[in-house]
Amino acid sequence: MTTHFYTATSLDGFIATTEHSLEWLFAQDFDMEGPMAYPAFVDGIGALVMGASTYEWLLRSGEPWGYTQPTWVLTHRELHIPKGADIRLTQAGIVQVHEEMTAAAGGKDLWIAGGGGVAAEFAAAGLLDEVWIQYAPVMLGAGQPLFTGRLDLELVDSARNRDFLCGRYRVRRASTGEAPATRLLDES
Ligand SMILES: NC(=O)c1ccc[n+]([C@@H]2O[C@H](COP(=O)([O-])OP(=O)(O)OC[C@H]3O[C@@H](n4cnc5c(N)ncnc54)[C@H](OP(=O)(O)O)[C@@H]3O)[C@@H](O)[C@H]2O)c1
Repeated sequence: MTTHFYTATSLDGFIATTEHSLEWLFAQDFDMEGPMAYPAFVDGIGALVMGASTYEWLLRSGEPWGYTQPTWVLTHRELHIPKGADIRLTQAGIVQVHEEMTAAAGGKDLWIAGGGGVAAEFAAAGLLDEVWIQYAPVMLGAGQPLFTGRLDLELVDSARNRDFLCGRYRVRRASTGEAPATRLLDES
């Protein structure tokens, strides 16, 4: 069972604009059947987790809820849950959330859908294994960060998917095997 952070980013490391727009991303050309594409990735996922901003963006999109897998939403607020969707709003600790997701995932992998701060929270707890990044050919100059902290990675696969450069990375563990190779910015 592997915990992945899979996301698209601008070349300068932002996953959304400051106003949480993804218009720059959906304007790009990406082959959903191509290398490292999203549909094949999601087939291997048994549970996912996201932060409140990502969840609110999905709700604002007006599309029906798109995931059959159980989904944890990290939030301090009571947010709307679409009818029939398997969504758990939580402010439990990351270790507990990861345990609950693992138990619900039926042996499949876990997906941290974003944002970068949530991925960093899992990494800081030593619970992030892989990072998949689709680099869109655009600079945003500012926006919501890809990651909030340091994380040392090993490139294990790469591909071109139309206009995107795709990288798959394994998280390097600290050599002691104890501390994760990351530190949240607000702890420094
Ligand atoms: N490019 C892509 O492929 C891609 C992928 C995913 C997301 N996105 C976009 O990127 C943006 C990410 O926004 P973001 O950086 O604000 O991150 P986010 O992780 O989506 O949301 C952050 C919020 O989640 C809540 N939260 C985070 N950790 C928590 C914890 N441990 N316990 C309780 N609540 C917690 C807090 O909200 P509250 O305290 O207010 O509840 C926090 O302000 C969104 O616009 C999203 O649509 C893009």
